[in-house]
Amino acid sequence: MDSFLVRGGRTLSGTVRVSGAKNSALKLLAASLLAEGSSTIRNMPAIADVPAMGALIAHLGATVRSDEDAYTVEVPADLGSEAPSALVSALRASVAVLGPVLARTGRAYVAQPGGDQIGKRGIDMHLAGLVGMGAEITYGPDYVEARADRLVGADLELPYASVGATENILMAAVLARGTTRIVNAAREPEIIDLADFLSGMGARITGAGSPQITIRGVDRLTPVDHVVVPDRIEAGSWVVAAALTGGDVKIDAAVPAHLRMPLSKLRALGVEFEEGDSHLVVHGPVSPTSPSRRLRAVDIVTLPYPGFPTDLQAQMLVLLTQAQGTSMLTENVHDARFRMVEELRRMGADISVEGHHALVRGPARLHGARVQATDLRAGASLVLAGLVAEGETEVLDAHHIDRGYADFAGKLRALGADVERATASAGAAA
Ligand code: EPU
Repeated sequence: MDSFLVRGGRTLSGTVRVSGAKNSALKLLAASLLAEGSSTIRNMPAIADVPAMGALIAHLGATVRSDEDAYTVEVPADLGSEAPSALVSALRASVAVLGPVLARTGRAYVAQPGGDQIGKRGIDMHLAGLVGMGAEITYGPDYVEARADRLVGADLELPYASVGATENILMAAVLARGTTRIVNAAREPEIIDLADFLSGMGARITGAGSPQITIRGVDRLTPVDHVVVPDRIEAGSWVVAAALTGGDVKIDAAVPAHLRMPLSKLRALGVEFEEGDSHLVVHGPVSPTSPSRRLRAVDIVTLPYPGFPTDLQAQMLVLLTQAQGTSMLTENVHDARFRMVEELRRMGADISVEGHHALVRGPARLHGARVQATDLRAGASLVLAGLVAEGETEVLDAHHIDRGYADFAGKLRALGADVERATASAGAAA
């Protein structure tokens, strides 16, 4: 049994540094398979999902070495084609090997990906894209297999701007014969990071970050040396932590341009910032004695980028419990992302859920409780809730948080929070 223990009531202050983006780093490891030779990826976050993805690409034939935050991936001429269940079941991002492995070897077999239990999480658009490029797909309840001697460029229109489908198609198309156009492509900063990585390998890509990406296929790619984009979700989580507890927090290696919608919502709530090109300073507003500086309720709707990110929804839910008035938070991206509401209620939050809407009435006096991290973002958000709760909060299943936040407890402690990571031995847990 692993948990976070949080004693609430401390004001956070100081400087915190954001790590490389999880949702880019994992795809870049997959993308490194596209070029024979030795690629280096820097600013890799020290999170549990990175070695998990490393193990998967190692199984496919790569040699992965890490030296602090730099990963070197040595890719052989001949790659394996099979990603077995034991290596993919805990990791949604594992599906990202489908495109590159198919492009390199003509065949990719991937067991059904795992990851957070936050909804159905289909991969139909990934597969339709590959079929559009000439792949033959077979699948069963627990695997998908794609075959194509050489993929052929195609005009592909996504019914929804899926991050994973855009990435898989992009990674398959760079080695296809001819030109591929992805219409209604996802526009997330991590897509731009992947396109930059691939372009560094010699891929010919235009339009990444816009709704239409054009890829002119090449015969082979060469290794690259690349620095992972900062994690905008981690940065946003620190903004919420600062806003919740008051105090002044500087967030280094944050790109405010990647957080336009969340920052505008946070401003509407009453949070004040100073922005640099690669940092943010948050001036926490919460002051019980000064009504004019209280947080105000706002409505939030999650959408693909540049809309409000679903991965910051749970953190905002916690912040909204401290705002004056009733806020409505609508989740449009994943269909089971309000599972943590039950846990927040146990801490005293006043939230009701109707379908994909949550109504949050605040401000609520939160109190410590034993709560369950139901997924990565929910887990981190419950720790944030613990920062403003009276007494002690125990967040169980801390391993969810380790998947996506590097040294979460250590970074919080450095800002003055009273947080520790506790791991009970198997015997004690039994
Ligand atoms: N979807 C389908 N079919 C598809 C593709 C997507 O039905 O072929 C649906 C699924 O229900 C899915 C939703 O659309 O849940 C959104 O899918 P999308 O492809 O945009 O997201 P993803 O690639 O599955 C990535 C991140 C998520 C993040 C979303 C949206 C990784 C490994 N995961 O998921 O990150 O929420 O984009 O921004 O990159 C997290 O970090 O906590 C996390 C869950």
